[in-house]
Amino acid sequence: MATGQGAARDLAETVPGGSGAVPAHVAIIMDGNGRWAAARGLPRIAGHRTGAQAVRRTVEAAIEHRVAWLTLYAFSSENWRRPPSEIVDLTGLLRHYLRSEVAELSKQGVRMHFIGDRGRFDGDIQTEMARAERLTAANTRLNLVIALSYGARAEIVEAARRVALAAVAGTLDPATLTEDSFSALLATAGSPDPDLIVRTSGEQRLSNFLLWQGAYAELVFLEVLWPDFGPVHFAAALAEYSRRERRFGARPG
Ligand code: IPE
Ligand code: IPE
Ligand code: MG
Repeated sequence: MATGQGAARDLAETVPGGSGAVPAHVAIIMDGNGRWAAARGLPRIAGHRTGAQAVRRTVEAAIEHRVAWLTLYAFSSENWRRPPSEIVDLTGLLRHYLRSEVAELSKQGVRMHFIGDRGRFDGDIQTEMARAERLTAANTRLNLVIALSYGARAEIVEAARRVALAAVAGTLDPATLTEDSFSALLATAGSPDPDLIVRTSGEQRLSNFLLWQGAYAELVFLEVLWPDFGPVHFAAALAEYSRRERRFGARPG
C-alpha cells in the first residue's frame, strides 16, 4: 500500500529541511466520536464503539511504520464531568475492550501500559488493566500507552507532592532535583517524550494531555473524526512530521 513507511520516508526526502524521520513516540488525542454519531443521527455511544475499532487500525499502522511508542488519550480526568449515562457507556465499552482485545494485542507483540487515575474506575476494570500489563510485559514490538482518567496537571501535582513529602522526610535534597529526576516521578517514567502529538476532529488544543512531556512535540491537527481514522491518516500525520524541522531551541541548522 502506498501509505506505508516507505511512502512517508520518500515524501520527506523530497522536502528540504525536513527531518525525514519516523517519530519514536506518537501520541494521539482521539477526538470526535460524538460528532461522528450526531452526523448520522446515532447516539454518542455508537461513535465511541466505532472509535474503538479505529484504535485497532491505529495500533496496526503504528506497528507497520515501526513506531516504538504509541500513546492514546482515551478518557481525560475532566471527562468524568460528562452525564452519568455517557460515563456508564464509556466504562462499559472499556470493560468490553479490555476483556476482548488484550489477547490479540499480546499476540501482535504489543506491550500495554496505562496512565491516569485508575483508582476511579470500578475494581474489575482496574483488575483487567493490571492483568493486561502483566500479560504483555515481555512484548517488545510496540509499547501502547492508554491514558485513562488522565490529566497532565493532576500528574504534575502528584509528582510535586512526592517531591515535597520526600523533602519533608529528609530523603531528598530539593537542591538536587533536576528535569530528569522530576520526569521519573511522572506516570510516564521510563517512556520517551512524544515526538508527535496528533489530534483528530479539527479541535486545536491539548485538553490537559502530556503538558510536561510534550514540551517539544510537533503538533498535527487533522479534520478527520476519530471513528473514521485509519492508516491513511496515520501515514499523513507521519509524513507531515517528517517535513518538520525540530530545533529544541537551538539555531536552525
Ligand atoms: C472523544 O470523542 C472520546 C472521549 C473524549 C471519551 P468525544 O466524545 O469528545 O466526541 P466529540 O468531541 O463530542 O465529537
Ligand atoms: C480530550 O477530548 C480527551 C480525549 C479525547 C480523551 P475532549 O473532547 O474531552 O476535550 P475538550 O472538552 O473538547 O477540550
Ligand atoms: Mg471531544
